[in-house]
Amino acid sequence: MKTTLSVIKADIGSIGGHIKPSRALLETVEGYVRENGRDLISDVYVSYTGDDIAILMAHHRGPNDADVHKLAFEAFMKGTQVAKAQGLYGAGQDLLKDAFSGNVRGMGPMVAEIEFEERPNEPFLFFAADKTSPGAYNLPLYLAFADPMFCSGLILSPKLGKGFKFVIMDVNYTEADRIIELNAPEDLYDIAALLRDTERFSIEAIYNRATGEQAAVVSTSRLRNIAGKYVGKDDPVMIVRVQGDFPAAGEMLAPFAIGHYVAGFMRGSHNGPLMPVPHNTHVSYFDGPPIVTCHALCVHNGKFTEAADPFDHPFWRSVQDRIAEKALELRRQGFFGPAMLPYEELEYGGIVERMKDLEKRFQIRPHTE
Ligand code: 13P
Ligand code: 13P
Ligand code: MG
Ligand code: MG
Repeated sequence: MKTTLSVIKADIGSIGGHIKPSRALLETVEGYVRENGRDLISDVYVSYTGDDIAILMAHHRGPNDADVHKLAFEAFMKGTQVAKAQGLYGAGQDLLKDAFSGNVRGMGPMVAEIEFEERPNEPFLFFAADKTSPGAYNLPLYLAFADPMFCSGLILSPKLGKGFKFVIMDVNYTEADRIIELNAPEDLYDIAALLRDTERFSIEAIYNRATGEQAAVVSTSRLRNIAGKYVGKDDPVMIVRVQGDFPAAGEMLAPFAIGHYVAGFMRGSHNGPLMPVPHNTHVSYFDGPPIVTCHALCVHNGKFTEAADPFDHPFWRSVQDRIAEKALELRRQGFFGPAMLPYEELEYGGIVERMKDLEKRFQIRPHTE
């Protein structure tokens, strides 16, 4: 029997701004899923990253199962009631609909799902990021699955030597899913050419080319494109199977030491470096910096082990210090140039209105020879 891992994540309200969910909110969401998911799912693991709550579920019903999606959506609805009762900021922020209708995709929450026949041991990493967008995972995935400078297994293990297939989505296309499949290593430069544009192209999935087995899945929807206006960043989640036919856990973690700059810092409108942090870390400086948590688990017969916390390790302290320096360095130039996102990406209507007013005040003057 195949096992499905489904992670469904939403911001349904937070304390003191976009900082973290309240304890009551977390307890409500987890309690609802445990209580109502007894006959549906085999296990659940709830965590938060910044102001986002992620529900990771194991079950045997396959991706896009209406009942599993409904369970998570209704847990978030229930949580929203608590958020409202507590007067939390942004109560129900990511829930764009009042009632569930078939599939939680397009209704606000981020979703990533993967189905596989469990290996005798099935280690995987679940990542959640806050104050950024799905393209934030492009670089670490590229480095872990296509670059032997980061993934020594591409050279050392025959199981990885045929390379990986990347499925990349054009997230600006909203009428349907617009995707392209490219193979590493042959298509490396094409993959890189797309992945550099993190606001438009996002890795959706990665497969081992020798076995056809799926290695990774990323949530790809952009709230902006769903809602047509700014309602918060997309704060993506991903699941990566590791070891054996896939990169080792440590090969997948290594690229996060770069602290690469991503979009989504403060008001979803600035660039900032992505900082790896321990489980259940809130945001702080300038509503950030953008953060990512990693939850390492094994799943066996649909049951999770406890989660290990790879970014909660002395190694990452100096990395975090360096990334804080990178954040401060870019913040020194405030709104200027690459510190703020390009105009087309600015999520707030305010600047759009301002530009409209300014357009009217421009004057045309003939060239003087
Ligand atoms: P979230 O998308 O995490 O809610 O953050 C929104 C924001 O604008 C923070 O400044
Ligand atoms: P407010 O307009 O409620 O301050 O929201 C701004 C926001 O979400 C950025 O953090
Ligand atoms: Mg928020
Ligand atoms: Mg968030």
